[in-house]
Amino acid sequence: MTVKIFDTPNVQDFIKTVAGFDQTGGNDRAKKIVHRLVGDLFKLIDDFDVTEEEYWAAVNLLNALGSQTQFGLLSPGLGFDHFLDMRQDAIDAEAKRVGGTPRTIEGPLYVAGAPEAEGFARMDDEETEGETMWLTGQVRDVDGTPIAGAKVEIWHANDKGGYSFFDPSQSEYNLRRTIYTDSKGYYTARSIIPSGYGVPEGAPTDVVLKSLGRHGERPAHIHYFVSAPGHQHLTTQINLAGDPYTFDDFAFATREELVIPAERIDDATEINKRDLDGPFSHVVFDVELSPTDALDLQARHARPRAKENEQDLASQLAGTAKV
Ligand SMILES: [Fe+2]
Repeated sequence: MTVKIFDTPNVQDFIKTVAGFDQTGGNDRAKKIVHRLVGDLFKLIDDFDVTEEEYWAAVNLLNALGSQTQFGLLSPGLGFDHFLDMRQDAIDAEAKRVGGTPRTIEGPLYVAGAPEAEGFARMDDEETEGETMWLTGQVRDVDGTPIAGAKVEIWHANDKGGYSFFDPSQSEYNLRRTIYTDSKGYYTARSIIPSGYGVPEGAPTDVVLKSLGRHGERPAHIHYFVSAPGHQHLTTQINLAGDPYTFDDFAFATREELVIPAERIDDATEINKRDLDGPFSHVVFDVELSPTDALDLQARHARPRAKENEQDLASQLAGTAKV
C-alpha cells in the first residue's frame, strides 16, 4: 500500500482541531503536547501502514494495561524511567552539579510512612524467610565529610520477589524502614537478602516485552531515598552482584557504580558481634550526596506514591522534615 495522507492540509488541519487549537478554553501546554503526540501517531500509522486490526489490538492492550495498573511496569520496561534519569543527569551536568552517588529509577513500589529509627533498624518482621543480610554504609558529602542525621529510606522485596503492601501476605511495612544516620554518618539495617522478580507471565507488560523478544526480569536489588539538608535528594538502588540479571535488568536500573557484592560471612566472632544466630551476607553501600542550596532539589519530586500526600512533600520542601 502506498497511501500517504499525513502531509495533506486536510489531515494537518484535522490534528489542530483534535488538539483544540481552535478553542479558547483548556490548557496551552496540553494542546501542544497532544498536537505533537497525535500527529506523531498519525504519521506512524501512515508510515507503517498500520492496519485496522493492529490499531484495535493496540487499543485493547492499552485497556488491559490500565485495568491491571501496569503502566508503572511498562514505563521502566520501555526505558522511560531511565530516560528521565538521563535527562536529570544532563540537567545536573549543565548546572555544574557533579559528583555524588549516581541516581537510578525509583520504580512504582515505594510506600510512605515506614517506621523510623536512629542508626540501626531491623527491617524484617522476624517471620520472614531468607538469608540474613547485614546492610550498612556511611552517608558523606562529596568532600568525604560524614553527614550525621541523614535520612535513609530503604525498601526491598522478600525472598520471593514480593513487596509488602502490594503483596498482602506480608506484614505492614515489612522490609521498609527509614534510618537516620548516626553521629559518624552510618546507617545499619538487619534484613534478609531480597530476590529479583519478573513481570507476571502473560500480563499485558509481558505481552509487549515478548513481542520485542525481551524478558521482564529484574536482578535482586534494594531501593534507597537519601536526603539531608543542604544536599541534593538522591533516589537510587543497588543491584546485588552475581544475579543472572545484574547486567540484564528489564527496567534498565543497573549502573556500574551501583552493583554491590553480598559477602557471605560465617566467622563466629563477626556473627556474635552483630548478635546474629548464624552466617549472614554483608552488604556495604556508602552514599555521597552533592551539595545544593535549592530547596526543591533537597526533596524528592512529586508523583503519586502509596500513602504519601501533598503535605508530606510540602514539609520536605520547607525543610521541616526530621533531619
Ligand atoms: Fe524494586
